[in-house]
Amino acid sequence: MKYRYYLFDFDGTIADTGEGIRRSVAYSAEKLGYAVPDVEVLNRFIGPPLHDSYRKYFGMTDDQAEHAIQVYRERYIDIGLYESNLYPGIPALLKALRERGAYVALASAKPQMMLERLTKYFGIDGDLDAISGTDLSRHSADKQDLLMAALPGGANPGEVCMVGDRCFDIEAAKALGMHAVGADYGYSEPGELKASGADEVYAASPDMVRALLEGDVPRGRFITLEGSDGCGKSTQIARLKDWLTRRGYEVALTREPGGCPISERIREVILSLDSKGMSAECEMLLYAASRAEHVREVIKPALKSGKIVICDRFLDSSIAYQAYGRELGEDLVRQINAPAVGDLRPDVTLLLQVDRASARARMARGALPDRMEIEREDFFERVARGFEAVRAADPERVHVIDAGRSIEEVFRDVSEIVGKAIQGV
Ligand code: TYD
Repeated sequence: MKYRYYLFDFDGTIADTGEGIRRSVAYSAEKLGYAVPDVEVLNRFIGPPLHDSYRKYFGMTDDQAEHAIQVYRERYIDIGLYESNLYPGIPALLKALRERGAYVALASAKPQMMLERLTKYFGIDGDLDAISGTDLSRHSADKQDLLMAALPGGANPGEVCMVGDRCFDIEAAKALGMHAVGADYGYSEPGELKASGADEVYAASPDMVRALLEGDVPRGRFITLEGSDGCGKSTQIARLKDWLTRRGYEVALTREPGGCPISERIREVILSLDSKGMSAECEMLLYAASRAEHVREVIKPALKSGKIVICDRFLDSSIAYQAYGRELGEDLVRQINAPAVGDLRPDVTLLLQVDRASARARMARGALPDRMEIEREDFFERVARGFEAVRAADPERVHVIDAGRSIEEVFRDVSEIVGKAIQGV
């Protein structure tokens, strides 16, 4: 590692907390009878101590500003705090820095208690050596003091890399002799970070992450969702993507058959009703052909760049549908797929299960059935047996989820399992 210590500002650097702060400032203004300022002014409240901002932008006295902060917190602590998300790549960065032996801490003018709640909420509390925030009752905080408080005793500022999104962060770091990295994707004005002496400035968080990790970004995670037709995968996949994105993961959403131009063309051939009567062998080879292209063009490159790949179906579907449904046998299907998948295995697979009657009802509500969906009932019974065999062969990877429950209940399980699986990213 280039530096021994890494210090991060929070708002605008680690997390996009703008929405909650803006809405809570607007709430306090309305409640206290002030005109709600426009978004540019509301954005100025993100980062520096609130007390200073209330005085500066509302012309308040010390006492009025103190009261306004109380009103702001009525909304912020329970609601506004959670109207935020981590910037892409942040959890992976914090983990990787620590795994490589660096000391990693937060230094922010936000109250300590809020930093602790938020880092826990986002699941990054275990990736930090220290959190240096302010006391709820403190009016102002000196950024240099916050930076020094975040370091262990005796640390040499010359070995510290500080990342922040405002001039206050950069100026404090430079005054202490630290290396200062500007997060230009946060709440700075154009040119603010360079002008305040930042040694490096990044316009997007993934660029900052790559630079700090010197190009050596940890591999992402490969998550697949499986299940019979009509099991409700699409709804859960969309939710999972949002959930991961809010937590700072870069997500690539894809599907099989398809996922890239050539494979999407193969998909059309496989699923079209015009292909009725296609031999089982041709079908198996087309699924494998589509997969070979998709793995090389989409999945592997995305994993290499640190993304979390969520794939709607993968090899397990070929086992269930072609090996069992079409009765081609598992050995043959695995053999045919070997050149397509190589050594790629999903890190975790969610197998959504519903009884056939609900699956049929869900399918009937959807778009017109494709060539697979018009199959007879005994075919789907064999597919279900195929998925059961897949699970039995690899119970650590394949998690069965009862998808007959409400969307919320199913998603609770989905997010819990995925949350555990991505811990090492
Ligand atoms: P799709 O419309 O994506 O169905 P779903 O929304 O249920 O996932 O169509 C994919 C169909 O292809 C589905 O019936 C399952 C089938 N399939 C196989 O038979 N083998 C495979 O290897 C894959 C990936 C899918």
